[in-house]
Amino acid sequence: MKDHVADDLTTDWVALHGEAFQGCRALVTGGAGFIGSHLAQALLTLGAEVVVIDDLSGADGTNLDPLRASAGGRLRVVEDSIMNREALADATAGAQLVFHQAALGSVPRSVEQPRAFHDVNTTGTLNVLEAARAEGVRRVMFAASSSAYGDAQTLPKVETMAPQPLSPYAATKVAGEALMRAWACSYAGGGGTDTACLRYFNIFGSRQNANSAYAAVIAAFAKALLAGEAPAIYGDGTQSRDFTHVHNAVHANLLAASEPEPLRGAVFNVACGQRVTVTELAQRMAQTLGRPDLVPSYLPERAGDVKHSVAGLDHAHAGLGYAPIVGFAQGLASTMQWYAAEA
Ligand SMILES: NC(=O)c1ccc[n+]([C@@H]2O[C@H](COP(=O)([O-])OP(=O)(O)OC[C@H]3O[C@@H](n4cnc5c(N)ncnc54)[C@H](O)[C@@H]3O)[C@@H](O)[C@H]2O)c1
Repeated sequence: MKDHVADDLTTDWVALHGEAFQGCRALVTGGAGFIGSHLAQALLTLGAEVVVIDDLSGADGTNLDPLRASAGGRLRVVEDSIMNREALADATAGAQLVFHQAALGSVPRSVEQPRAFHDVNTTGTLNVLEAARAEGVRRVMFAASSSAYGDAQTLPKVETMAPQPLSPYAATKVAGEALMRAWACSYAGGGGTDTACLRYFNIFGSRQNANSAYAAVIAAFAKALLAGEAPAIYGDGTQSRDFTHVHNAVHANLLAASEPEPLRGAVFNVACGQRVTVTELAQRMAQTLGRPDLVPSYLPERAGDVKHSVAGLDHAHAGLGYAPIVGFAQGLASTMQWYAAEA
């Protein structure tokens, strides 16, 4: 198997987060995945000890390879499921922070397999909270999702809107948010575990899996274009998304983790605050690769897909000091370079 190439985009995590994570122990569930591996990398750069628990059901195990050399023994990988409570307790031992990324992804797959999604994403999240509580973890950061907003017509989508999940996947993510809030409120006494929910909007970047039938749109388009094929769009292509480079998601997690005030399950959007249609995205990617001839083909819309998605960022800015650190265009260019080097 080919090793992944080194990361394409350099963010100075120390300049952004200083000494906040030096010597701290953090558990990253789903840390062998796309976002989890970037989080683990930033935490290691910041001097943390990192434990990853991942059952490799959604990753090929190579995402952590670029991190191992520089980890200097501060990275431990537990290849197991968050459904195995013994393994989870072992992975959580001594952790002050938990970044809960492990989940089954993909809206269409969840429509086909709702029970599997409920088990891993909802019961699995309960397992993570219980392990964190038993271990006296200071705060759990939860990978929530913009899919919670469903087809809310008002744009931008802000955290005060009532959740409207349209798919089993979205329902599990809303359930996870409810568990985060309930655990922070119910067990807050005596230095109990605090929680925060980060609603990611279409995260993209290096190491996102392109080799799955359920690949996210930028990964799928990159794979098609690099193979000289036209990208396939579900729907008429006018649907829009707030595409967000993964370093923004990492930054938001680190800000939430180091916030001195209790967050009590508060929900924060994590995005760029910019709307791009899927047709525009396909054209831009084709042009960047010098293949404007690869015009997209259009397929029927998929169940559970939302029409428009763009985030309001005022709450994340006021509550966490969050603002995007990598813009859409810069992130897309470097991500495409990465996919090209991997191809
Ligand atoms: N990528 C996005 O745009 C996006 C948007 C909203 C929310 N999220 C959420 O962010 C998190 C990370 O997503 P990602 O894009 O990195 O996906 P990913 O599939 O690359 O990462 C998820 C990881 O979780 C692992 N995993 C799955 N089931 C597990 C289990 N039972 N036990 C242990 N590990 C398990 C997988 O092997 C995988 O490595 C997920 O919770 C996802 O729902 C992602």
